Amino acid sequence: MLSFNEILQRIEQEVSLLHFNCSPDSLYAPVKYILSLGGKRIRPALTLIACNIYKDTIDDAIAPALSLEVFHNFTLLHDDLMDQADKRRNNPTVHKIWNANTAILSGDAMVIASYKIIAGSKPEFLKELIDLFTATALEICGGQQYDMEFESRPDVSEAEYLEMIRLKTAVLLACGLKMGAITGGAPANDAAHLYQYGLNIGLSFQLKDDLLDVYGDPGTFGKNTGGDIICNKKTFLLINALRKATPGQQKKLRQWFAKKEFDPAEKIEAFRRIYNESGVKEMTEAKIQDYYNKALSHLASLNVPEEKLSVLKEVSHILLHRES
Ligand code: IPE
Ligand code: IPE
Ligand code: MG
Ligand code: MG
Ligand code: MG
Repeated sequence: MLSFNEILQRIEQEVSLLHFNCSPDSLYAPVKYILSLGGKRIRPALTLIACNIYKDTIDDAIAPALSLEVFHNFTLLHDDLMDQADKRRNNPTVHKIWNANTAILSGDAMVIASYKIIAGSKPEFLKELIDLFTATALEICGGQQYDMEFESRPDVSEAEYLEMIRLKTAVLLACGLKMGAITGGAPANDAAHLYQYGLNIGLSFQLKDDLLDVYGDPGTFGKNTGGDIICNKKTFLLINALRKATPGQQKKLRQWFAKKEFDPAEKIEAFRRIYNESGVKEMTEAKIQDYYNKALSHLASLNVPEEKLSVLKEVSHILLHRES
C-alpha cells in the first residue's frame, strides 16, 4: 500500500506530464498557471487512495484522478470570477492577472480537457466513470447557482445551505472516492459507503472552508479572508448568527446586506464581532466534527481489513485539522 506522501508525489509527477503547451498560449498559460500553484490535490488523492484499498497498482485510477483535478481547477477559475476573489493559493487569481474573459475561456478549455483525460480510462470502466463524472459536474453547476442566488436572499435555511454545499463541494470528493472504488474493483456495497464517506467528509470540508474564510490566517489559507462576508454569502456561520444573535445584532447584519458602498474591513469586523458574541464559531466546529464522525462510520462499514483504511483515516484527520 502506498503512503499518503507517495500518493501526493505520484499526483505531482502526473500533473507535470499533462500537456498544455498548446496554442494559443494566451488560452493555455492560465491553465498551466493555476495547475502549477499546487493546492492540496485532495480530490485526486482520494481517488488513488480508494483504488489502492482494493488493488496494489493504482495505474487504472490515474486518468480519472487527473481529470477530477483539472475539473476542480476549472471550477476555481470560474468561482473566483463569480466571487470576485483576488487571491488563490497565495497568488493573484487568473481574472486578476489576465481578465474575466480569459478566466471564462481557459476554464471552459479545462472542462473539455478533463473529459479528454477521463476518456483515456480503461474501456471496462469508461461508461461508469463518464456517467458519474457528468452527473457530478452538473450537480456542481447547480450548487454554484444556489450559492450565488443565496447572496441576495436573507432567509436561507440551514437545510438549504447544506444542500447547496453538498452540490457545490461534497459530490466532487464523493465522486473521486467512487471512481477509486470503480477502478479498484471494489464491491458495490463498498463503493456506496466510500461515496457516503466522501459526501460527509466533503460537507465537513466546506464547513471548514467557511470557518477559515472568517477566522483563517490569510497567509496560511492562501485566500483573502472575509470574502464570504463581503458578498453576503449565506454560510453556516451567517445563517446561524441570523437565528441566534440578539435582535439588535440581527438588525445590524440585515442593514449591512443592503449597503452597496462600504469599507470592506469595517463590514468584516462587524460580522466577526457578532459571530464571536453569538457562539456560531463553536456551532460550526461542532457541525464539522459531526460530519467527520459520520464519514468515519462509513469507513467502518467497508468490507476490508482495518489496516487498509489507515491512509484514508490519516487524510480525514489532516482535513479536519487543516488551516489551508
Ligand atoms: C477550494 O478547494 C474550493 C472548495 C471547495 C472550498 P480546495 O480547498 O481543495 O483548494 P485547493 O485545490 O487545495 O487549492
Ligand atoms: C467553492 O466554494 C466551490 C467550488 C469551487 C465549486 P467557495 O467559493 O467557498 O470556494 P473558495 O473559498 O473560493 O475556494
Ligand atoms: Mg470562492
Ligand atoms: Mg464560491
Ligand atoms: Mg470559501
